[in-house]
Amino acid sequence: MSDVTFQSPDGSVTTLAAENGQKLMKVAKANGVPGIVGACGGHMECATCHVIVDDEFVEKVGGPSDQEDAMLDEAAYPRQPHSRLSCQIIVAEELAGLRVTVAPYQR
Ligand code: FES
Repeated sequence: MSDVTFQSPDGSVTTLAAENGQKLMKVAKANGVPGIVGACGGHMECATCHVIVDDEFVEKVGGPSDQEDAMLDEAAYPRQPHSRLSCQIIVAEELAGLRVTVAPYQR
């Protein structure tokens, strides 16, 4: 298990103990984190799971794949330097304590 924290557009902050190996988007959805839509179920087809990774974790999380990068260009909220699709971030021990900000809007 690894702690992950979401800062949502409504100002709420949610910290969850997530099972390693899960998609961050799935963790958010399963726990009702405000602001994550995840309309395509994690198939990188909707960009409604847009999050911005906190500076501290950018290096550990790494950058998006080419396909994810292209989808981020389609995100409703304009992509930021550390934007990622949360369905493409896998919870892992190395990412324990991860903090992300949910994009202000998803569509
Ligand atoms: S859930 Fe659709 S792109 Fe992430």
